Amino acid sequence: MGEPLLSIDNLHVKFARSEDEVYAVNGVSFSINENETLGIVGESGSGKSVTLMSSIGLLKENGTITAGTANFQGRDLLKMHRKQLEDIRGRDIGVIFQDPMTSLNPVMRIGDQIMEAMLTHHYAGRREAYDRTLQLMHEIGIPDPKTRFRSYPHEFSGGMRQRIMIAIALACEPQLLIADEPTTALDVTVQMQILALLQDLRRQRGMSVVMVTHDFGVATNFCDKIIVMYGGRIMEVAETDHFIRETAHPYSIGLKRSIIEIGHKGKEILPIPGATAAITEEPAGCPFAPRCTYASARCLQEVPELRPFGTDHQIACHHAEEVVSLVR
Ligand SMILES: Nc1ncnc2c1ncn2[C@@H]1O[C@H](COP(=O)(O)OP(=O)(O)O)[C@@H](O)[C@H]1O
Ligand code: SF4
Ligand SMILES: [Mg+2]
Repeated sequence: MGEPLLSIDNLHVKFARSEDEVYAVNGVSFSINENETLGIVGESGSGKSVTLMSSIGLLKENGTITAGTANFQGRDLLKMHRKQLEDIRGRDIGVIFQDPMTSLNPVMRIGDQIMEAMLTHHYAGRREAYDRTLQLMHEIGIPDPKTRFRSYPHEFSGGMRQRIMIAIALACEPQLLIADEPTTALDVTVQMQILALLQDLRRQRGMSVVMVTHDFGVATNFCDKIIVMYGGRIMEVAETDHFIRETAHPYSIGLKRSIIEIGHKGKEILPIPGATAAITEEPAGCPFAPRCTYASARCLQEVPELRPFGTDHQIACHHAEEVVSLVR
């Protein structure tokens, strides 16, 4: 396999607040290859969105990248000027968010919004952009594209609007799609349809996708490889099949258990006792220690580094070996 498409190394991100600062991302490293789907999963507040958004220049104003690199096709995104990044974002890297209503322009016809993505990035001239827009609308499952071209976002359902966002993100045929909770706002049936559509479009194009989700089921159904994040750190990494069979980190085990218990009834239960909290001091131990049944004195003092655990599996836990012998 050649060079990874995107490679993030030792990323650290902090936010300033009026009284303190938040250590949102604390040394995250991972890469994604061509034609790969990577799932970044973890409860809300784990640092998933900040990791990706800071890498593509969408960090909130009170945030600072204090260390790290993000190499995309041989260039460090973190060293680029705003203009260069804007050019890459939307052309080489497509992005979709949870709520299409905040990203779509309510007073612009949806066909024009898809076309605009191509015109802004000089991807196609007007005529070609128009034809491609109709083609994309067809591909994402909007019937009668010529007529619907002229409709406004409010004339579509939530699921259809998310399809339109996908069309915009794919307009310039990016090599990489970053999807941050793309189906979270949708009901389960529509969620499945959107994921199936994304999977088809991805396969046809050989595109890579980084999918950020708090939903363990969505990540494991959609992705080839899983990264579990907590407290702004990576807790576990493995290929999905392997990960499901050999889950070894106490936090991932908790996430997995909650899915099995929720099943498909859609009942919300608290997955793991305790809650995520913003980290406001330089991390000294394992971020999961306050909620972990296996925590020892060492866990409070020493940050567990991500280390190999068997083949093609990495874990950040001092006691993974013992944990595994207890749960299996
Ligand atoms: N603009 C901000 N100012 C202060 N803290 C922030 C800001 N954005 C995110 N955070 C904090 O950073 C941490 C990681 O957030 P985020 O990456 O959004 O989590 P996730 O996407 O995993 O739900 C959380 O503690 C969150 O409260
Ligand atoms: S390092 Fe310690 S606290 Fe952290 S997950 Fe492992 S056992 Fe639990
Ligand atoms: Mg998020």
